[in-house]
Amino acid sequence: MANQTRPTMASPPQTLILLLSLTLLLSISSLPNLIHALGFTTHLIHRDSPHSPLHNPSETPSDRLFRAARHSISRSLATATSTIVPIGGTYLIKLTMGTPPVSSLTIFDTGSELIWTQCQPCLSCFNQTFPIFNPKSSSTYQGLSCSEKHCSNVPHDCGSPSNTCDYGYGYGGDSFTKGQLSTETFTFDGGYQVPSIAFGCGHNNSGFPDKATGLLGLSRGPLSLINQLGPLVNYRFSHCLTPFNFHDPPFVNSTVTFGDNAVLSGSNAAKLALPSGEKTFYLLSLESVTVENKIVSVGKAVNDTATDDGVMVVDAGSMFTLLRPRVIDQVLAAVKSAVSENPVKDPNNFYELCYGVNAKVPDVVLRFDGPAEVRLGRESAYVKPYDDKICLAILRSQDIQLLGSLAQQNFHVGFDVRANTISFTPADCTKQ
Ligand SMILES: *[C@@H]1O[C@H](CO)[C@@H](O)[C@H](O)[C@H]1NC(C)=O
Ligand SMILES: *[C@@H]1O[C@H](CO)[C@@H](O)[C@H](O)[C@H]1NC(C)=O
Ligand SMILES: *[C@@H]1O[C@H](CO)[C@@H](O)[C@H](O)[C@H]1NC(C)=O
Ligand SMILES: *[C@@H]1O[C@H](CO)[C@@H](O)[C@H](O)[C@H]1NC(C)=O
Repeated sequence: MANQTRPTMASPPQTLILLLSLTLLLSISSLPNLIHALGFTTHLIHRDSPHSPLHNPSETPSDRLFRAARHSISRSLATATSTIVPIGGTYLIKLTMGTPPVSSLTIFDTGSELIWTQCQPCLSCFNQTFPIFNPKSSSTYQGLSCSEKHCSNVPHDCGSPSNTCDYGYGYGGDSFTKGQLSTETFTFDGGYQVPSIAFGCGHNNSGFPDKATGLLGLSRGPLSLINQLGPLVNYRFSHCLTPFNFHDPPFVNSTVTFGDNAVLSGSNAAKLALPSGEKTFYLLSLESVTVENKIVSVGKAVNDTATDDGVMVVDAGSMFTLLRPRVIDQVLAAVKSAVSENPVKDPNNFYELCYGVNAKVPDVVLRFDGPAEVRLGRESAYVKPYDDKICLAILRSQDIQLLGSLAQQNFHVGFDVRANTISFTPADCTKQ
């Protein structure tokens, strides 16, 4: 900026202009559609909370835990190159799309990129809670053509002769969405409105839980919500997951914050690992796991892939944390040697290590390259699948290692996709 001499005090006409522009600013900011530089905060609804339409009151706490555990394992089974299976994603976000606004209930997923919703006309749609989005009823809807830059970021065919961007996006398992890549106005909690978000208007969708309307992808790819909001929110967001105790309501919503109010810590920040070609998952380099005085040293990621013992995916869509055999075997041994009581058997042979509910169990500390440390106390490292037993909430993976939502609870987990860091700031997420 050029050096300019400035008057130390505004002269009367300047004061008037200042006042006028202040008035203008104030009136603009009272409009709901102003894009606030500060960003916004919205609720993350746990799928099993009573606020969620996916809540099934007939399931017992134990049923829910087993379902969540099986889901976590299925997410880790996705290969390193495909997208994580999002079925039954753990957290949902309510938002509206279009003009006039139509309600959507989207699955929050940091493990995939595309934002999409079921769209009319449906070739094949699953049941959802809200009416299916009809692009013809929205004045702000726009279908994208094959020549638009967004189109090159999604697998697609070009419609003939219309040249529409006909995308097809597959997830692990057999789930997929197919339709036209389009743009639309999205409105988040508090009236935060963003025009021209590229999303998949899905006419043929399969393999997703009934009731949700689609998916909100937040991975590192260019089409994800965080990269589309980009400079509006300084490429930053953080979430604070409340402890979700299946046995002990009430359920306090978790939150996700985009922009300057996102909580990012400089002092406990892990560097995102970038195995060759990886641009989807938020990967961290796991260096060691400490259980009391035993240190399980994992060592440097050597194979440069997401399925390395030294690489871990940060994934709030999985409740449990998963570790590969070489690492979990040593963690199990370290926990056993730290607990004076004898382990008890899981009658369902599912959990590998359980104790009586009153056993004194050690914290498990994960250390990442950054360096950053994530300490898992009793509430984060163990679950209570039976009335009289607690079990280690770290499961065995043959594929990707995951840092699940239990491990992330009561931290502000801050994502900075420009600085390529994820930070962990301890917090009481119920007090927001
Ligand atoms: C939906 O897509 C699937 C997978 O490509 C295809 O097999 C099926 O025929 C499509 N359904 C309709 C109704 O077009
Ligand atoms: C969808 O909802 C309709 C009407 O409520 C019901 O008849 C149908 O069985 C549902 N389909 C599925 C797959 O649940
Ligand atoms: C939790 O989130 C839902 C959906 O946004 C909202 O309706 C509900 O009021 C929230 N609960 C609390 C206690 O804030
Ligand atoms: C690296 O890859 C090689 C060959 O695929 C495999 O034998 C080895 O176990 C891998 N090492 C780690 C630490 O994953």
